[in-house]
Amino acid sequence: MSDENVIIFDTTLRDGEQSPGASMNTAEKLEVAHALADLNVDVIEAGFPIASPGDYEAVKLIADEIKGPSICGLARCNDKDIDRALDAVKGAERPRVHVFLATSAIHREFKLRMAKEEIIRRAVEGVKRARNGCDDVEFSPEDAGRTEHEFLGQVVEAAIEAGARTINIPDTVGYNTPDEFAEIIRYLKGNVPNIDQAILSVHCHNDLGLAVANSLAAVQQGARQVECTINGIGERAGNASLEELVMALTTRGDRLGTKTNIKTKRLYPTSRLVSNITGMHVQRNKAIVGRNAFAHESGIHQDGMLKERTTYEIMRPEDVGISQTELVLGKHSGRHALRKRIEELGYHLAEAQLDKIFSDFKVLCDKKKEIFDADVEALIEQRIQSG
Ligand code: KIV
Ligand code: ZN
Repeated sequence: MSDENVIIFDTTLRDGEQSPGASMNTAEKLEVAHALADLNVDVIEAGFPIASPGDYEAVKLIADEIKGPSICGLARCNDKDIDRALDAVKGAERPRVHVFLATSAIHREFKLRMAKEEIIRRAVEGVKRARNGCDDVEFSPEDAGRTEHEFLGQVVEAAIEAGARTINIPDTVGYNTPDEFAEIIRYLKGNVPNIDQAILSVHCHNDLGLAVANSLAAVQQGARQVECTINGIGERAGNASLEELVMALTTRGDRLGTKTNIKTKRLYPTSRLVSNITGMHVQRNKAIVGRNAFAHESGIHQDGMLKERTTYEIMRPEDVGISQTELVLGKHSGRHALRKRIEELGYHLAEAQLDKIFSDFKVLCDKKKEIFDADVEALIEQRIQSG
């Protein structure tokens, strides 16, 4: 892996599985883990081993079987959680334990009822305990996005001092704007003396639809790990979508200054797999993997595409594992696209016949949202019969 590349930490099997309605059984999790390894993600967060015996078993099985990526288990900052996570990941080629503790005033006061000093003490104890059993420890100050910068800096410094190799900054409730989130990363880089001893990571939720934008703003400030999920599934409105982050970094590496190790041709098949297993439908206009992502209906766009693909496409569908651009026939389509489809269906029609079929086609389009090949064939056959 190039040092310049962003580490892709996939949490489909942990945060993604926390989406209401997305739970997976152990066999399904293993299937997804294999797909993530084929996609070449750097880290798989396989689950939260203390959450249930099933979660523990799944993390353990994935740690024992999956080769390539680091396998990570999540733990709150207490001995029982950490020991369970250590045990679950110990069979992995590259085990990682991810310890988290909330730091924002809201969480300190209402959830944890802990003072700042106690938060720092517990974070340090948790990281040290995890480091006793595992070299690769990640620490997350939960709700970092709403934590006072100065206190966040103190917690981060103490966690690194205690042995955390990755410091993950979560926007747990998806509250930040891109400039605000970038400012947190800039602050930590400029004010935490030992910050360069750890990899800075980000974990953005999508409550305001800003998860990918916030993650990329952080990357531009030097974050070198992003946490994300396939199809953006996760708590509430979900996490940053892996496929969107990866294709933004691949397509606009010129502006973002870094790339990933992902085999992008595996993006679409992995998206389909996760959607089928979780039953979480991918919206039709979803960037990169939605059914419309590489489909063109309007006549002007179809005409442009037939002349030169880059007029209306900034990525090639085959680069994300979709076999080809789809020129969808509908009421906005023009004569060029209809002629192309007719030729693809094996017909060679005279211009006069094509004119007639084109007007039949427009009449049909007012009755049907989408025109399928069988509809076009029926129109041609009708015209051929009537001479
Ligand atoms: O959103 C969050 O803060 C989390 C942490 C456990 C990293 O998922
Ligand atoms: Zn989360």
